[in-house]
Amino acid sequence: MVIPSLIEHKRDGRPLAPDQWAELIRAYAAGAVPDYQMSALLMAVYFRGLEPAELAALTDAMIDTGDRLRFDGLPIPVADKHSTGGVGDKVSLLLAPMVASCGVAVPMMSGRGLGHTGGTLDKLESIPGFRTQLSLREAREQVERLGCAMLGQTPEIAPADKRLYALRDVTATVESIPLIASSIMSKKLAEGLNGLVLDVKTGSGAFLTDTARALELARTMIGLGEARGCPTVALLTAMDRPLGRACGNALEVEEAIEGLRGGGPADLMEVTYALAAEMLVLVRAARDLADARRRLEEAVASGRALETFARIIEAQGGNPKVVEDPGVLPQAQAVEVYRADRGGVVQAVEPRRIGRAIVALGGGRMAVEDGVDPTVGFVITVKPGDPVRAGEPIASVFARDSAGVALGMRALGEAVAIGDSGYLTPLVSHRITVRGVELLAEHA
Ligand code: URA
Repeated sequence: MVIPSLIEHKRDGRPLAPDQWAELIRAYAAGAVPDYQMSALLMAVYFRGLEPAELAALTDAMIDTGDRLRFDGLPIPVADKHSTGGVGDKVSLLLAPMVASCGVAVPMMSGRGLGHTGGTLDKLESIPGFRTQLSLREAREQVERLGCAMLGQTPEIAPADKRLYALRDVTATVESIPLIASSIMSKKLAEGLNGLVLDVKTGSGAFLTDTARALELARTMIGLGEARGCPTVALLTAMDRPLGRACGNALEVEEAIEGLRGGGPADLMEVTYALAAEMLVLVRAARDLADARRRLEEAVASGRALETFARIIEAQGGNPKVVEDPGVLPQAQAVEVYRADRGGVVQAVEPRRIGRAIVALGGGRMAVEDGVDPTVGFVITVKPGDPVRAGEPIASVFARDSAGVALGMRALGEAVAIGDSGYLTPLVSHRITVRGVELLAEHA
């Protein structure tokens, strides 16, 4: 295989053959292709895109570099959810135990924070003792026993994606629809699922900010899933403001537990129920979305979902008392209230600004090897369209020290805009299936 001629081919807008993709990815995973050549090829893909046959070959090749989870003989269906990433998005923490409590197995394989977006693994690891690095064997056994495991991408699953992803992160080639789709779907399709629900974020805080591109990403991933025997549905959800109130690892765990206890902010619960209901319907654990919603609400109201979360935490080495007492979570040393600087209507709560401030406070990573401070972040109690009075408390900063508080207060000043009018865009705007796109709510 002559790599420079493959790069040249792709650079000039010509497709590579499926077996060229297969060979290339195999060679890259084996360490036989240097990162500088793969970077050049990724940039060519970024500009030229991939034809459907190339995308299929790339995805299959990435899956084939690793192992697959298998649940042969499990008497219940297996489903998962994946979000394209946002700020304040703690949906997985609630959804996995809720869906598992309704008789569907959930091998929830998640990621760490990426750029300005938070990651489920970092959130879970703020629970003292919680271990996310399970082997495939441990994950399978726990799913068989408890109906759910919450783990990181194991070295056995799509190892080519792990390397390619790290390379894309440092070569400005993340925001490419075929590269995102193949990356996400190679991991999800290796999980042995009977159904997959995608939460495709749209708006200023999403990786793909505009709706048309988010819809194209959703359709691309659905095409890959369905063609490989995994029924796949996507919802487009708003990421032009943070989801829920809490943004920051331990703060988000606390809010997720509040949701599992029957409280929780309305927007967080709405997105969680919408995605979880799709999962139950997709694997036929509910007749329709209304039936699924009833079952999920009952799992929360009866305390079963919270109990399941406690069992998962205990099985993975965490302190299950956290579900009764959020005081078990590490606490920020410095907390300060932020007040509205004028009266009026909230125009924006800019998620990217909030996400970047969490990273700057130590709650996210600047480099792959960095640790994260689980205690820092924000609780923001207003949304665009909310009326506020001058001086009204509308947020809190959680930081390590007074310098962090000052940084957080400045970030809130930039992120929260108050004017004379403002409005909230629809939270769940589109439902995408293999049959097409359903508009659920119009933008104002
Ligand atoms: N998440 C992934 O796993 N891969 C991407 O490319 C983007 C988000």
